Amino acid sequence: DVKPLDKRYEDSFTIGAAVEPNQLEGTDAKVLKRHYNSLVAENVMKPINIHPEEGKYNFKEADKIVKFARKNNMDLRFHNLVWHSQVPDWFFMDKEGKPMVNEKDPKKREQNKRLLLKRLDEHIRTIVLRYRNDVDSWDVVNEVIDENAPNGQGLRESPWYKITGTDYIATAFRSTKRYAGKHSKLYINDYNTEVEPKRTYLYNLVKDLMKKGVPIDGVGHQSHIQLGWPTLQQIEDSINSFADLGLDNQITELDVSLYGWPPKPAYKTYDEIPAEVFQRQAERYDALFKLYEKLGDKISNVTFWGIADNHTWLNDRAEQYNNGVGVDAPFVFDPDYNVKPAYWAIIDK
Ligand code: G3I
Repeated sequence: DVKPLDKRYEDSFTIGAAVEPNQLEGTDAKVLKRHYNSLVAENVMKPINIHPEEGKYNFKEADKIVKFARKNNMDLRFHNLVWHSQVPDWFFMDKEGKPMVNEKDPKKREQNKRLLLKRLDEHIRTIVLRYRNDVDSWDVVNEVIDENAPNGQGLRESPWYKITGTDYIATAFRSTKRYAGKHSKLYINDYNTEVEPKRTYLYNLVKDLMKKGVPIDGVGHQSHIQLGWPTLQQIEDSINSFADLGLDNQITELDVSLYGWPPKPAYKTYDEIPAEVFQRQAERYDALFKLYEKLGDKISNVTFWGIADNHTWLNDRAEQYNNGVGVDAPFVFDPDYNVKPAYWAIIDK
């Protein structure tokens, strides 16, 4: 008897899935309705898709996800308002059409900074006013930490940073809060949030934002993880450290890859994956969800970065690093939507 995942965890957190609009019908939709009570867009709400040209918004695909969530009484996460990737270039061009990052004149640099922050506020205003009654959690900024950045503080040297310093982060949170009002929560989202020195860079940034009165409610831990990495202790310590600051935590993009990084060598077909590997994955899921449950009210949502093993960015990655042939299998449903050992591990306790 395959019981709903979301019911199993309803006392602790909501269970989400990342989706493309074409996954809102057929078997995908059935599985979504049965097992998940939260949704996030895998791609269509990102800046390049929703705001491709200045002042021109494309809400069509995003609206489909919003409607599905509303109709099926599901929570909604918004991913994402600000990112260095999948963001259109027009944000960073000055009035003459020159890239702002190249500007040397201090006066013009100041003007550019103001223009970019104004564009950011406008971007956020338009999106948030449209969706504020539907969205529960906003990924306000995504992946602003880069432990390899040359500035020594782990701040990613994206165009946002090069043009505004860290002001874009504060502006993004303040604008989101101003337009969204009280009933939704604001998150800073990133990957490898468990691993030093990135964890400390993120912690210091968040603490600093809070000190300045920037409205931030929680940390989104993407959790693109592996069978043995990071350790449970690292995951627990990271969540506890942010909870100690008074913040919520969400697991925002969970997948458990069968591989290390890069994913090489990979199994060529799904059928080649040994049962023993699925068993190890089940043990990993078991330990993970026991930990999430133990952390209780420190985690409000756990979202998988997909539904079933037939659609995952990790398949693209496995192919990319293995001459076009390779599969991964990160979820608890197989490519035909049958439950895997990992499903039984997190439902049967
Ligand atoms: O839609 C176009 C299609 O028209 C075109 O033919 C095709 C050719 O490459 O590309 C399609 O766009 C792709 C898009 O996914 C939709 O499938 C992009 O190339 C591809 O780069 C994009 O990848 C997404 C990636 O973010 C972009 O960086 C993945 O699906 C998505 O899973 C991934 O998600 C990110 C999170 O947002 C942030 N955290 C990491 C996570 C995994 O990378």
